[in-house]
Amino acid sequence: MSLDQNKIAEDLAQALRAIESASDLDGLKQVKIDYVGDKSPLAKANQALATVDQSLRAQFGKLVGAARAEVNQAFEQRSAKLSALRDSQMLLTEKVDVTLPGRRNLKGGLHPLTILTNEINDLFIGLGYKVAEGPELEAEWLNFDALNIPADHPARTMQDTFFVEPLESKLVLRTHTSPVQIRTMLNEKPPIYVICPGKTYRADELDATHTPVFHQVEGLVVDENITMGDLKGTLDFFAKSIFGDQVKTRLRPSFFPFTEPSAEVDVFFNGRWIEWGGCGMVNHKVLDACGVDTKKYSGFAFGMGLERTLMVKHGITDMHDIVEGDVRFSQSFGVGKK
Ligand code: PHE
Repeated sequence: MSLDQNKIAEDLAQALRAIESASDLDGLKQVKIDYVGDKSPLAKANQALATVDQSLRAQFGKLVGAARAEVNQAFEQRSAKLSALRDSQMLLTEKVDVTLPGRRNLKGGLHPLTILTNEINDLFIGLGYKVAEGPELEAEWLNFDALNIPADHPARTMQDTFFVEPLESKLVLRTHTSPVQIRTMLNEKPPIYVICPGKTYRADELDATHTPVFHQVEGLVVDENITMGDLKGTLDFFAKSIFGDQVKTRLRPSFFPFTEPSAEVDVFFNGRWIEWGGCGMVNHKVLDACGVDTKKYSGFAFGMGLERTLMVKHGITDMHDIVEGDVRFSQSFGVGKK
């Protein structure tokens, strides 16, 4: 390859034009490959110096060296300019308004019903009780018969109970947590101290005070010398723990097939008596059906609705708020706030 002064001047001019016309750093990268790097015309001219006649080598060497130096300098200047341009654009497009309020990340939280359930479990665990659970799809026999609820009892009619097809399966959605009493007594020997929270079902329309799916908590004690005084003392402790020390309880005579005697338990809260749940001494017929020695043991049981407990405690007037799952409801209990 021979060298030519005009060609070198032309290569130089072309490289300078290309550098000048690169409008951003990406474009400049390609210009570097084409006009500055090892494969560029001027780099090739430099390599060709070796083949130039000895007498002309110094002259061409100077020429090519000066051209390459000029290209390098132009490249560095352009590169610095385009970097500065990119930085100032970035400052504009990525600017941060430090006066804007921060974005909140809400933490997940437990539903107030779950919080209440945990609270009740803890309370009774502290008294030496165990937490017992049973299935929501329950044998009709355990939900009714074993609890001394005869076949013609109104609680069994279609209006109250969700029967499960096929009807011969003899399964129902449990209407209360009391079948867990039976399951516990069939499986364990006294002394028995259990608390059973869980979902229960009744064929009610959802309105301000009813919901077809609700929660109860059941308590069962079977031991020697258990009296109604023990029941009253336990309910007092329970009520005070939930509603506060100033709360009073009273028992009103009532009827449940599985307890005898039976009572409604009321709490005096916020200046009035409010019905809270049912209770009584476990009926001998029920103890017998579960093989408990009634000469040695007696027991008490109680059951209350958790939605109702929550409504009374917090003055909630509409059941929809509890069941609809609007987080603003839970947040008013301090749930899920940062
Ligand atoms: N199971 C009863 C109900 O659902 C409540 C209850 C439980 C009553 C235990 C007495 C003893 O209404």
